[in-house]
Amino acid sequence: MNNETNVTWHEHRVSREMREKKNGHKGCVIWFTGLSGSGKSTVANTLDHKLYQLGIQTVVLDGDNVRHGLNAGPGMLKGAHGEDFSSRFGLGFSAIDREENIRRIGAVAEIYTQTGVIALTAFISPYRIDRDRVRNTLKDGEFIEIFVDAPLEVCEERDPKGLYKKARAGELKGFTGIDDPYEEPESPELVLLAAEKTPDILADEVIEFLKDKAIINS
Ligand code: ADX
Repeated sequence: MNNETNVTWHEHRVSREMREKKNGHKGCVIWFTGLSGSGKSTVANTLDHKLYQLGIQTVVLDGDNVRHGLNAGPGMLKGAHGEDFSSRFGLGFSAIDREENIRRIGAVAEIYTQTGVIALTAFISPYRIDRDRVRNTLKDGEFIEIFVDAPLEVCEERDPKGLYKKARAGELKGFTGIDDPYEEPESPELVLLAAEKTPDILADEVIEFLKDKAIINS
């Protein structure tokens, strides 16, 4: 028990092993990181679909979606009585807010892993230290960091949400890759060449990796 909070840790009766046995595969986190527009969400969703067809239990946690719910931002968080909670709990794009964004997602992904699910996360997650902190909450081999590698010029050319254009025009400050940092992974489990290959081929590369590591059956 934590003496400060009087909160007790409960052991779960249904063990992770039982769930993994039932599922027929292991739980893990597949952590996609890369610039906005690099293709993280597209590859994660393509992979999700392929794994679903193989009968594998997955969940996708995606930056844009999670920032509408769990990690909602300024103006989006209201209390039960209409109070604005954004200033206390809302997350934007400062370094500290991104850190908290990644911490919360990491905690959610870790819970899924413990329940034998493969969690696919698609967040820019620009800071190495934040990604490493999530890695450190998991056992060896459970955190699969995948660098979705597409040059800035390609992401900017794609600009699916028109945000690079806004950032270049100075209408959007602190945009990753333009006037905010992105720290590439130093030793990711996988690098996907996202400007050169289709999402379909990239998703297959991840599946090969999962088979190779015996996370899913070959
Ligand atoms: S992270 O840096 O905290 O990991 P996250 O992946 O959740 O970012 O959200 C990134 C998405 O938010 C981008 O794809 C883009 O659509 C949007 N966005 C809005 N403002 C910014 C910004 N300043 N920098 C990066 N992305 C932003």
